[in-house]
Amino acid sequence: MSKSNSATFSLINDATGDKYALPVLDGTVGPSVIDVRRLYAETGHFTYDPGYTSTGSCESALTYIDGDEGVLLHRGYRIEDLAEKSSFLEVAYLLLNGELPNGQERDSFVDTITHHTMLHEQLINFYRGFRRDAHPMAIMCGVVGALSAFYHDSTDINDPHARMVASYRLVAKMPTIAAMAYKYSLGQPFNYPQNELSYAENFLYMLFAVPAEKYVMNPVLARAMDRLLILHADHEQNASTSTVRLAGSSGANPFACIAAGIASLWGPAHGGANEAVLNMLNEVGHKDRIGEYVKKAKDKDDPFRLMGFGHRVYKNYDPRAKVMMQSCHEVLEDLGIDDPLLDLAMEFEKLAREDEYFIERNLYPNVDFYSGIILKAMGFPSDMFTVLFAVARTVGWIAQWQEMIEDPTQKIGRPRQLYTGPDQRPYVPVEKRG
Ligand code: CMC
Repeated sequence: MSKSNSATFSLINDATGDKYALPVLDGTVGPSVIDVRRLYAETGHFTYDPGYTSTGSCESALTYIDGDEGVLLHRGYRIEDLAEKSSFLEVAYLLLNGELPNGQERDSFVDTITHHTMLHEQLINFYRGFRRDAHPMAIMCGVVGALSAFYHDSTDINDPHARMVASYRLVAKMPTIAAMAYKYSLGQPFNYPQNELSYAENFLYMLFAVPAEKYVMNPVLARAMDRLLILHADHEQNASTSTVRLAGSSGANPFACIAAGIASLWGPAHGGANEAVLNMLNEVGHKDRIGEYVKKAKDKDDPFRLMGFGHRVYKNYDPRAKVMMQSCHEVLEDLGIDDPLLDLAMEFEKLAREDEYFIERNLYPNVDFYSGIILKAMGFPSDMFTVLFAVARTVGWIAQWQEMIEDPTQKIGRPRQLYTGPDQRPYVPVEKRG
Protein backbone atom coordinates (compact mmCIF):
# COMPACT_ATOMS: atom_id res chain seq x y z
CA MET A 1 0.00 0.00 0.00
CA SER A 2 1.17 3.52 -0.74
CA LYS A 3 1.52 5.99 2.14
CA SER A 4 0.64 9.66 2.18
CA ASN A 5 3.69 11.83 2.56
CA SER A 6 3.32 14.95 4.71
CA ALA A 7 4.94 16.97 1.91
CA THR A 8 2.80 18.56 -0.79
CA PHE A 9 3.50 20.20 -4.11
CA SER A 10 2.04 23.63 -4.80
CA LEU A 11 0.59 24.52 -8.14
CA ILE A 12 -0.02 28.18 -8.82
CA ASN A 13 -2.17 29.58 -11.59
CA ASP A 14 -0.08 32.61 -12.54
CA ALA A 15 -3.05 34.37 -14.19
CA THR A 16 -5.40 34.21 -11.20
CA GLY A 17 -2.99 33.64 -8.32
CA ASP A 18 -5.02 30.58 -7.25
CA LYS A 19 -2.89 28.06 -5.39
CA TYR A 20 -3.48 24.32 -5.11
CA ALA A 21 -1.75 21.85 -2.80
CA LEU A 22 -1.12 18.48 -4.42
CA PRO A 23 -0.60 15.53 -2.08
CA VAL A 24 2.49 13.30 -2.42
CA LEU A 25 2.36 9.50 -2.07
CA ASP A 26 5.29 7.25 -1.16
CA GLY A 27 5.84 3.69 -2.33
CA THR A 28 8.31 1.27 -0.75
CA VAL A 29 11.32 2.32 -2.84
CA GLY A 30 11.67 4.55 -5.88
CA PRO A 31 10.36 8.01 -6.67
CA SER A 32 7.27 9.33 -4.86
CA VAL A 33 4.32 10.46 -6.95
CA ILE A 34 2.32 13.66 -7.02
CA ASP A 35 -1.34 12.71 -6.65
CA VAL A 36 -3.27 14.62 -9.33
CA ARG A 37 -6.55 12.73 -9.02
CA ARG A 38 -8.47 15.79 -7.84
CA LEU A 39 -6.71 18.20 -10.18
CA TYR A 40 -9.50 18.53 -12.77
CA ALA A 41 -12.23 18.85 -10.15
CA GLU A 42 -10.29 21.61 -8.39
CA THR A 43 -8.60 23.46 -11.26
CA GLY A 44 -10.57 22.59 -14.41
CA HIS A 45 -7.30 21.48 -16.04
CA PHE A 46 -5.95 18.06 -17.06
CA THR A 47 -2.32 17.00 -17.08
CA TYR A 48 -0.83 16.36 -20.53
CA ASP A 49 1.62 13.49 -20.88
CA PRO A 50 1.49 11.64 -24.22
CA GLY A 51 3.60 8.48 -23.97
CA TYR A 52 3.12 8.62 -20.16
CA THR A 53 6.75 9.58 -19.57
CA SER A 54 5.87 11.16 -16.20
CA THR A 55 2.72 9.29 -15.29
CA GLY A 56 2.16 6.50 -12.81
CA SER A 57 -1.03 4.69 -13.81
CA CYS A 58 -1.54 2.42 -10.80
CA GLU A 59 -0.21 1.09 -7.51
CA SER A 60 1.57 -2.24 -7.88
CA ALA A 61 3.49 -4.56 -5.56
CA LEU A 62 4.77 -6.93 -8.24
CA THR A 63 7.83 -5.53 -9.95
CA TYR A 64 10.25 -2.73 -9.26
CA ILE A 65 12.74 -1.24 -11.73
CA ASP A 66 15.50 1.18 -10.86
CA GLY A 67 16.37 2.31 -14.36
CA ASP A 68 19.37 4.40 -13.32
CA GLU A 69 21.04 1.55 -11.45
CA GLY A 70 19.88 -1.22 -13.80
CA VAL A 71 17.97 -3.10 -11.08
CA LEU A 72 14.91 -5.31 -11.63
CA LEU A 73 13.09 -6.90 -8.68
CA HIS A 74 10.07 -9.23 -8.64
CA ARG A 75 8.34 -9.04 -5.25
CA GLY A 76 11.71 -7.85 -3.92
CA TYR A 77 13.89 -10.58 -5.46
CA ARG A 78 16.66 -9.63 -7.91
CA ILE A 79 16.15 -10.92 -11.45
CA GLU A 80 19.75 -12.22 -11.51
CA ASP A 81 19.04 -14.41 -8.44
CA LEU A 82 15.76 -15.66 -9.83
CA ALA A 83 17.36 -16.46 -13.21
CA GLU A 84 20.18 -18.37 -11.55
CA LYS A 85 18.48 -20.11 -8.63
CA SER A 86 14.77 -20.36 -9.38
CA SER A 87 12.55 -21.88 -12.05
CA PHE A 88 9.90 -20.28 -14.24
CA LEU A 89 6.98 -21.87 -12.40
CA GLU A 90 8.40 -20.79 -9.05
CA VAL A 91 8.66 -17.22 -10.37
CA ALA A 92 5.12 -17.54 -11.74
CA TYR A 93 3.91 -18.56 -8.27
CA LEU A 94 5.82 -15.64 -6.76
CA LEU A 95 4.24 -13.14 -9.14
CA LEU A 96 0.73 -14.53 -8.66
CA ASN A 97 0.88 -15.03 -4.88
CA GLY A 98 3.39 -12.52 -3.56
CA GLU A 99 5.77 -15.01 -1.89
CA LEU A 100 8.03 -17.83 -3.02
CA PRO A 101 6.26 -21.17 -2.44
CA ASN A 102 7.36 -23.71 0.17
CA GLY A 103 8.02 -27.23 -1.13
CA GLN A 104 4.44 -28.41 -0.82
CA GLU A 105 3.00 -25.22 -2.36
CA ARG A 106 5.45 -25.47 -5.26
CA ASP A 107 4.59 -29.13 -5.95
CA SER A 108 0.88 -28.40 -5.84
CA PHE A 109 1.24 -25.38 -8.17
CA VAL A 110 3.38 -27.34 -10.64
CA ASP A 111 0.81 -30.14 -10.56
CA THR A 112 -2.06 -27.72 -11.23
CA ILE A 113 -0.31 -26.03 -14.14
CA THR A 114 0.76 -29.38 -15.57
CA HIS A 115 -2.85 -30.58 -15.51
CA HIS A 116 -4.17 -27.53 -17.39
CA THR A 117 -1.85 -27.67 -20.41
CA MET A 118 -4.21 -29.39 -22.85
CA LEU A 119 -6.42 -27.32 -25.13
CA HIS A 120 -10.06 -27.91 -25.92
CA GLU A 121 -9.85 -30.21 -28.96
CA GLN A 122 -12.20 -28.00 -30.96
CA LEU A 123 -9.70 -25.16 -30.83
CA ILE A 124 -7.67 -27.10 -33.39
CA ASN A 125 -10.24 -25.95 -35.96
CA PHE A 126 -9.18 -22.38 -35.34
CA TYR A 127 -5.66 -23.12 -36.52
CA ARG A 128 -6.95 -24.65 -39.73
CA GLY A 129 -8.68 -21.35 -40.51
CA PHE A 130 -5.35 -19.50 -40.71
CA ARG A 131 -3.15 -19.40 -43.79
CA ARG A 132 -0.01 -21.52 -43.40
CA ASP A 133 2.14 -18.41 -43.75
CA ALA A 134 0.24 -16.48 -41.06
CA HIS A 135 2.54 -14.71 -38.60
CA PRO A 136 2.40 -16.78 -35.38
CA MET A 137 1.63 -13.61 -33.39
CA ALA A 138 -1.52 -13.19 -35.51
CA ILE A 139 -2.50 -16.75 -34.57
CA MET A 140 -1.73 -16.06 -30.90
CA CYS A 141 -4.00 -12.97 -30.84
CA GLY A 142 -6.84 -14.97 -32.40
CA VAL A 143 -6.57 -18.22 -30.45
CA VAL A 144 -5.99 -16.63 -27.03
CA GLY A 145 -8.96 -14.30 -27.57
CA ALA A 146 -11.02 -17.35 -28.54
CA LEU A 147 -10.29 -19.06 -25.18
CA SER A 148 -13.09 -16.96 -23.68
CA ALA A 149 -15.49 -18.81 -25.98
CA PHE A 150 -14.31 -22.17 -24.59
CA TYR A 151 -13.75 -21.61 -20.88
CA HIS A 152 -16.92 -19.82 -19.77
CA ASP A 153 -16.52 -21.09 -16.23
CA SER A 154 -13.49 -18.87 -15.65
CA THR A 155 -14.71 -15.60 -17.16
CA ASP A 156 -16.53 -14.23 -14.10
CA ILE A 157 -14.06 -11.56 -13.06
CA ASN A 158 -15.85 -10.97 -9.74
CA ASP A 159 -15.27 -14.53 -8.55
CA PRO A 160 -11.77 -14.93 -7.01
CA HIS A 161 -11.76 -18.67 -7.73
CA ALA A 162 -12.68 -18.12 -11.39
CA ARG A 163 -9.94 -15.50 -11.65
CA MET A 164 -7.37 -17.92 -10.28
CA VAL A 165 -8.52 -20.74 -12.59
CA ALA A 166 -8.28 -18.37 -15.59
CA SER A 167 -4.73 -17.48 -14.50
CA TYR A 168 -3.73 -21.14 -14.23
CA ARG A 169 -5.29 -21.91 -17.58
CA LEU A 170 -3.49 -19.08 -19.32
CA VAL A 171 -0.07 -19.88 -17.85
CA ALA A 172 -0.55 -23.58 -18.59
CA LYS A 173 -1.99 -23.32 -22.09
CA MET A 174 0.19 -20.61 -23.63
CA PRO A 175 3.09 -22.98 -24.49
CA THR A 176 0.60 -25.40 -26.08
CA ILE A 177 -1.00 -22.61 -28.13
CA ALA A 178 2.41 -21.24 -29.18
CA ALA A 179 3.78 -24.66 -30.11
CA MET A 180 0.67 -25.40 -32.17
CA ALA A 181 1.08 -22.09 -34.04
CA TYR A 182 4.64 -23.16 -34.91
CA LYS A 183 3.68 -26.68 -35.93
CA TYR A 184 0.87 -25.35 -38.07
CA SER A 185 3.28 -23.09 -39.98
CA LEU A 186 5.48 -26.13 -40.70
CA GLY A 187 2.58 -28.38 -41.67
CA GLN A 188 3.59 -30.85 -38.95
CA PRO A 189 1.18 -32.62 -36.57
CA PHE A 190 0.51 -30.98 -33.22
CA ASN A 191 2.12 -32.59 -30.16
CA TYR A 192 0.04 -33.10 -27.02
CA PRO A 193 1.67 -31.99 -23.74
CA GLN A 194 3.63 -34.58 -21.75
CA ASN A 195 3.00 -34.44 -18.01
CA GLU A 196 6.29 -36.02 -16.94
CA LEU A 197 8.22 -33.08 -18.39
CA SER A 198 8.93 -29.72 -16.75
CA TYR A 199 7.24 -26.59 -18.12
CA ALA A 200 10.25 -25.60 -20.25
CA GLU A 201 10.96 -29.18 -21.35
CA ASN A 202 7.35 -29.74 -22.31
CA PHE A 203 7.37 -26.55 -24.36
CA LEU A 204 10.50 -27.65 -26.24
CA TYR A 205 8.97 -31.08 -26.76
CA MET A 206 5.72 -29.69 -28.18
CA LEU A 207 7.70 -27.39 -30.47
CA PHE A 208 10.37 -29.70 -31.78
CA ALA A 209 9.31 -33.35 -31.40
CA VAL A 210 8.08 -35.20 -34.49
CA PRO A 211 6.17 -38.50 -34.43
CA ALA A 212 8.78 -40.20 -36.61
CA GLU A 213 11.53 -40.21 -33.98
CA LYS A 214 12.17 -40.10 -30.25
CA TYR A 215 12.75 -36.57 -28.95
CA VAL A 216 15.94 -36.32 -26.90
CA MET A 217 15.82 -33.50 -24.37
CA ASN A 218 18.92 -31.32 -24.16
CA PRO A 219 19.16 -30.12 -20.53
CA VAL A 220 21.22 -27.06 -21.50
CA LEU A 221 18.49 -25.93 -23.90
CA ALA A 222 15.76 -26.70 -21.35
CA ARG A 223 17.59 -24.60 -18.76
CA ALA A 224 18.12 -21.79 -21.30
CA MET A 225 14.41 -21.84 -22.16
CA ASP A 226 13.45 -21.76 -18.48
CA ARG A 227 15.77 -18.80 -17.90
CA LEU A 228 14.45 -16.99 -20.95
CA LEU A 229 10.93 -17.40 -19.59
CA ILE A 230 12.01 -16.07 -16.17
CA LEU A 231 13.72 -13.03 -17.74
CA HIS A 232 10.56 -12.06 -19.62
CA ALA A 233 7.98 -12.89 -16.91
CA ASP A 234 7.07 -9.35 -15.88
CA HIS A 235 8.31 -5.80 -16.34
CA GLU A 236 6.00 -3.39 -14.52
CA GLN A 237 3.76 -1.04 -16.52
CA ASN A 238 5.16 -1.54 -20.04
CA ALA A 239 2.95 -1.04 -23.14
CA SER A 240 1.46 -4.56 -23.24
CA THR A 241 0.87 -4.75 -19.48
CA SER A 242 -0.77 -1.34 -19.52
CA THR A 243 -2.89 -2.58 -22.43
CA VAL A 244 -3.98 -5.62 -20.41
CA ARG A 245 -4.84 -3.38 -17.44
CA LEU A 246 -6.72 -0.90 -19.61
CA ALA A 247 -8.70 -3.65 -21.36
CA GLY A 248 -9.41 -5.27 -17.98
CA SER A 249 -10.44 -1.99 -16.37
CA SER A 250 -13.71 -2.08 -18.31
CA GLY A 251 -14.51 -5.51 -16.87
CA ALA A 252 -13.48 -7.50 -19.96
CA ASN A 253 -12.73 -11.18 -19.34
CA PRO A 254 -9.11 -12.25 -18.75
CA PHE A 255 -8.67 -14.14 -22.03
CA ALA A 256 -9.75 -11.09 -24.04
CA CYS A 257 -7.39 -8.90 -21.97
CA ILE A 258 -4.40 -11.16 -22.58
CA ALA A 259 -5.19 -11.22 -26.32
CA ALA A 260 -5.05 -7.40 -26.20
CA GLY A 261 -1.67 -7.63 -24.45
CA ILE A 262 -0.35 -9.94 -27.16
CA ALA A 263 -1.40 -7.44 -29.84
CA SER A 264 0.45 -4.65 -28.06
CA LEU A 265 3.54 -6.79 -27.53
CA TRP A 266 3.80 -7.52 -31.24
CA GLY A 267 5.12 -4.05 -32.19
CA PRO A 268 8.85 -3.63 -32.96
CA ALA A 269 9.29 -0.95 -30.27
CA HIS A 270 8.23 -3.56 -27.68
CA GLY A 271 8.30 -7.37 -27.92
CA GLY A 272 8.81 -7.39 -31.67
CA ALA A 273 12.30 -5.96 -31.13
CA ASN A 274 13.97 -9.38 -30.75
CA GLU A 275 12.83 -10.35 -34.25
CA ALA A 276 13.87 -6.91 -35.51
CA VAL A 277 17.37 -7.29 -33.97
CA LEU A 278 18.03 -10.48 -35.89
CA ASN A 279 16.70 -8.97 -39.11
CA MET A 280 18.97 -5.98 -38.53
CA LEU A 281 22.05 -8.14 -37.86
CA ASN A 282 21.35 -10.19 -40.98
CA GLU A 283 20.96 -7.03 -43.02
CA VAL A 284 24.24 -5.59 -41.69
CA GLY A 285 25.94 -8.90 -42.45
CA HIS A 286 29.53 -7.90 -41.72
CA LYS A 287 31.50 -6.00 -39.09
CA ASP A 288 32.73 -3.55 -41.75
CA ARG A 289 29.20 -2.22 -42.16
CA ILE A 290 28.45 -1.58 -38.46
CA GLY A 291 29.74 2.00 -38.62
CA GLU A 292 27.31 2.74 -41.46
CA TYR A 293 24.35 1.47 -39.39
CA VAL A 294 25.43 3.28 -36.23
CA LYS A 295 25.52 6.44 -38.37
CA LYS A 296 22.02 5.72 -39.70
CA ALA A 297 20.75 5.22 -36.13
CA LYS A 298 22.07 8.66 -35.18
CA ASP A 299 20.63 10.42 -38.23
CA LYS A 300 17.42 12.21 -37.19
CA ASP A 301 16.20 12.21 -40.82
CA ASP A 302 16.45 8.42 -40.94
CA PRO A 303 13.72 6.42 -39.14
CA PHE A 304 16.19 3.57 -38.51
CA ARG A 305 16.91 2.81 -34.85
CA LEU A 306 19.43 0.41 -33.43
CA MET A 307 17.09 -2.43 -32.50
CA GLY A 308 17.67 -3.98 -29.07
CA PHE A 309 19.14 -0.71 -27.80
CA GLY A 310 17.59 1.84 -25.48
CA HIS A 311 14.75 1.60 -23.01
CA ARG A 312 12.14 3.93 -21.58
CA VAL A 313 13.11 3.07 -18.00
CA TYR A 314 16.68 1.68 -18.07
CA LYS A 315 19.28 4.37 -18.43
CA ASN A 316 21.90 1.76 -17.59
CA TYR A 317 22.57 -1.82 -18.73
CA ASP A 318 19.33 -3.82 -18.71
CA PRO A 319 20.07 -6.52 -16.06
CA ARG A 320 18.17 -9.04 -18.19
CA ALA A 321 20.50 -8.42 -21.14
CA LYS A 322 23.53 -9.42 -19.02
CA VAL A 323 21.97 -12.77 -18.08
CA MET A 324 20.83 -13.22 -21.67
CA MET A 325 24.35 -12.70 -23.03
CA GLN A 326 25.72 -15.27 -20.59
CA SER A 327 22.97 -17.72 -21.57
CA CYS A 328 23.74 -17.05 -25.22
CA HIS A 329 27.38 -18.12 -24.76
CA GLU A 330 26.31 -21.27 -22.87
CA VAL A 331 23.84 -22.34 -25.56
CA LEU A 332 26.17 -21.69 -28.48
CA GLU A 333 28.99 -23.53 -26.72
CA ASP A 334 26.81 -26.53 -25.91
CA LEU A 335 25.53 -26.75 -29.46
CA GLY A 336 29.00 -26.18 -30.89
CA ILE A 337 27.70 -23.27 -32.93
CA ASP A 338 30.02 -20.47 -33.90
CA ASP A 339 27.43 -17.92 -34.98
CA PRO A 340 29.00 -14.89 -36.68
CA LEU A 341 25.88 -12.94 -35.64
CA LEU A 342 27.00 -13.15 -31.99
CA ASP A 343 30.38 -11.62 -32.88
CA LEU A 344 28.56 -9.03 -34.93
CA ALA A 345 26.21 -8.23 -32.03
CA MET A 346 29.10 -7.89 -29.56
CA GLU A 347 30.98 -5.63 -31.95
CA PHE A 348 27.81 -3.56 -32.44
CA GLU A 349 27.48 -3.19 -28.68
CA LYS A 350 31.14 -2.18 -28.38
CA LEU A 351 30.97 0.45 -31.13
CA ALA A 352 27.65 1.88 -30.00
CA ARG A 353 28.77 2.11 -26.38
CA GLU A 354 31.92 4.03 -27.37
CA ASP A 355 29.87 6.48 -29.40
CA GLU A 356 29.05 9.89 -27.91
CA TYR A 357 25.44 9.78 -29.19
CA PHE A 358 24.67 6.53 -27.30
CA ILE A 359 26.67 7.57 -24.21
CA GLU A 360 24.88 10.93 -23.90
CA ARG A 361 21.45 9.31 -24.21
CA ASN A 362 22.29 6.35 -21.95
CA LEU A 363 21.41 3.85 -24.65
CA TYR A 364 22.46 0.34 -23.62
CA PRO A 365 21.53 -3.11 -24.94
CA ASN A 366 18.12 -4.25 -23.71
CA VAL A 367 16.78 -7.78 -23.16
CA ASP A 368 16.06 -8.22 -26.85
CA PHE A 369 19.58 -7.61 -28.08
CA TYR A 370 20.93 -11.12 -27.42
CA SER A 371 17.75 -13.19 -27.07
CA GLY A 372 17.28 -13.62 -30.83
CA ILE A 373 20.71 -15.20 -31.20
CA ILE A 374 19.95 -17.83 -28.53
CA LEU A 375 16.56 -18.55 -30.02
CA LYS A 376 17.99 -18.90 -33.50
CA ALA A 377 20.60 -21.36 -32.16
CA MET A 378 17.82 -23.33 -30.47
CA GLY A 379 16.11 -23.72 -33.83
CA PHE A 380 13.41 -21.03 -33.71
CA PRO A 381 12.59 -19.03 -36.84
CA SER A 382 12.65 -15.30 -36.14
CA ASP A 383 8.87 -14.86 -36.38
CA MET A 384 8.53 -17.11 -33.30
CA PHE A 385 10.72 -14.90 -31.10
CA THR A 386 7.96 -12.55 -29.96
CA VAL A 387 5.70 -15.54 -29.38
CA LEU A 388 8.13 -16.82 -26.74
CA PHE A 389 8.10 -13.42 -25.12
CA ALA A 390 4.27 -13.62 -25.02
CA VAL A 391 4.35 -17.09 -23.44
CA ALA A 392 6.64 -15.81 -20.68
CA ARG A 393 4.90 -12.46 -20.13
CA THR A 394 1.46 -14.06 -19.75
CA VAL A 395 2.06 -14.65 -16.05
CA GLY A 396 3.06 -11.02 -15.53
CA TRP A 397 0.01 -9.81 -17.46
CA ILE A 398 -2.39 -12.00 -15.55
CA ALA A 399 -0.83 -11.24 -12.15
CA GLN A 400 -1.10 -7.51 -12.93
CA TRP A 401 -4.69 -7.99 -14.09
CA GLN A 402 -5.56 -9.81 -10.83
CA GLU A 403 -3.89 -7.09 -8.79
CA MET A 404 -5.94 -4.47 -10.63
CA ILE A 405 -9.25 -6.28 -10.09
CA GLU A 406 -8.48 -6.68 -6.38
CA ASP A 407 -7.55 -3.00 -5.97
CA PRO A 408 -10.50 -1.28 -4.20
CA THR A 409 -9.62 2.04 -5.86
CA GLN A 410 -9.78 0.53 -9.37
CA LYS A 411 -11.74 2.51 -11.97
CA ILE A 412 -12.17 2.19 -15.71
CA GLY A 413 -9.04 3.59 -17.42
CA ARG A 414 -10.20 6.62 -19.32
CA PRO A 415 -7.56 9.24 -20.24
CA ARG A 416 -8.58 12.67 -21.52
CA GLN A 417 -7.06 14.69 -24.38
CA LEU A 418 -5.99 18.09 -25.59
CA TYR A 419 -8.51 18.69 -28.36
CA THR A 420 -7.11 20.50 -31.42
CA GLY A 421 -9.91 19.92 -33.96
CA PRO A 422 -12.47 22.49 -35.15
CA ASP A 423 -14.85 24.13 -32.69
CA GLN A 424 -18.61 23.62 -33.08
CA ARG A 425 -19.79 24.74 -36.55
CA PRO A 426 -23.00 24.59 -38.60
CA TYR A 427 -23.66 21.66 -40.94
CA VAL A 428 -23.31 22.73 -44.60
CA PRO A 429 -25.53 20.98 -47.21
CA VAL A 430 -23.49 19.33 -49.98
CA GLU A 431 -24.63 21.78 -52.70
CA LYS A 432 -23.28 24.68 -50.66
CA ARG A 433 -19.81 23.13 -50.02
CA GLY A 434 -17.00 24.63 -52.09
N1 CMC B 1 18.65 3.87 -31.74
C1 CMC B 1 18.96 5.17 -31.96
N2 CMC B 1 18.54 6.20 -31.18
C2 CMC B 1 17.76 5.88 -30.15
C3 CMC B 1 17.39 4.55 -29.85
C4 CMC B 1 17.87 3.53 -30.70
N3 CMC B 1 17.54 2.25 -30.47
N4 CMC B 1 16.59 4.52 -28.77
C5 CMC B 1 16.45 5.80 -28.36
N5 CMC B 1 17.16 6.62 -29.20
C6 CMC B 1 17.32 8.08 -29.06
C7 CMC B 1 16.09 8.83 -29.54
O1 CMC B 1 16.18 9.14 -30.90
C8 CMC B 1 16.11 10.05 -28.65
O2 CMC B 1 17.09 10.93 -29.15
P1 CMC B 1 16.86 12.55 -28.99
O3 CMC B 1 16.87 12.82 -27.53
O4 CMC B 1 18.04 13.16 -29.72
O5 CMC B 1 15.55 12.86 -29.66
C9 CMC B 1 16.63 9.51 -27.31
O6 CMC B 1 17.44 8.37 -27.67
C10 CMC B 1 15.54 9.08 -26.35
O7 CMC B 1 14.70 8.16 -27.03
P2 CMC B 1 13.13 8.13 -26.95
O8 CMC B 1 12.57 7.61 -28.25
O9 CMC B 1 12.60 9.43 -26.45
O10 CMC B 1 12.94 7.03 -25.82
P3 CMC B 1 11.64 6.21 -25.52
O11 CMC B 1 11.69 5.91 -24.08
O12 CMC B 1 10.42 6.87 -26.05
O13 CMC B 1 11.84 4.85 -26.36
C11 CMC B 1 12.41 2.63 -26.94
C12 CMC B 1 12.29 3.65 -25.81
C13 CMC B 1 12.72 1.25 -26.35
C14 CMC B 1 11.07 2.53 -27.72
C15 CMC B 1 13.53 3.09 -27.91
O14 CMC B 1 14.76 3.12 -27.20
C16 CMC B 1 13.64 2.17 -29.14
O15 CMC B 1 12.91 2.38 -30.12
N6 CMC B 1 14.57 1.16 -29.10
C17 CMC B 1 14.66 0.20 -30.17
C18 CMC B 1 13.56 -0.83 -30.06
C19 CMC B 1 13.80 -1.81 -28.95
O16 CMC B 1 14.89 -2.34 -28.77
N7 CMC B 1 12.74 -2.08 -28.19
C20 CMC B 1 12.77 -3.07 -27.07
C21 CMC B 1 12.62 -2.44 -25.73
S1 CMC B 1 13.03 -3.55 -24.39
C22 CMC B 1 11.89 -4.83 -24.44
C23 CMC B 1 10.46 -4.41 -24.43
O17 CMC B 1 10.06 -3.47 -23.73
O18 CMC B 1 9.69 -5.03 -25.10
